[in-house]
Amino acid sequence: MAILPIVTYNDDVLREKAKPVTEFNEETKELIDNMFETMYNSDGVGLAAPQIGVSLRIFVIDADNMLEEEDEKPGPLAFINPEIVEKSGRKIPLDEGCLSIPEVTDKVIRPEGVKVTFKDQNFEDREIDADGWVSRVIQHEYDHLEGILFIDYLSLFRKRMHKNDLKEIEEGKREVKYPVRPKL
Ligand code: NI
Repeated sequence: MAILPIVTYNDDVLREKAKPVTEFNEETKELIDNMFETMYNSDGVGLAAPQIGVSLRIFVIDADNMLEEEDEKPGPLAFINPEIVEKSGRKIPLDEGCLSIPEVTDKVIRPEGVKVTFKDQNFEDREIDADGWVSRVIQHEYDHLEGILFIDYLSLFRKRMHKNDLKEIEEGKREVKYPVRPKL
């Protein structure tokens, strides 16, 4: 397994629509293992393949630490070729951050629940009905596969508030606790 550098917010690969996975082999498994290791190393709760420079429809999550004792815990889960088949509940604001945009957080409004179909890390077909933080992480990571970042949802005013942070990240001047790869 290997810890891979995470690309930062202005990298072009984060703006591409990622391609469906068609090969289900050892290489795919290794990629997923590396994504989990990279996510844990950076204390993240989710990581999408484009964030390590791979434009494929895969993301991994492990949001168990964010959940309450009594919540159902899905554990470490890979989503290969995920489809959001239903969004439900109220639209609620929650604080989001992103490993590609270190130390920037802001409130994003999204539906409470999602139903998603996908293949997991064992290449088995799965369906999950998620709410709370798990739903939030899934929606954030799914966006990465569509070339969308959470800052895209912010008002011009809120974006302006983060302008200096973004500039610092863009110029590779921000100190980050995990390996990052600023755009060359
Ligand atoms: Ni992100």
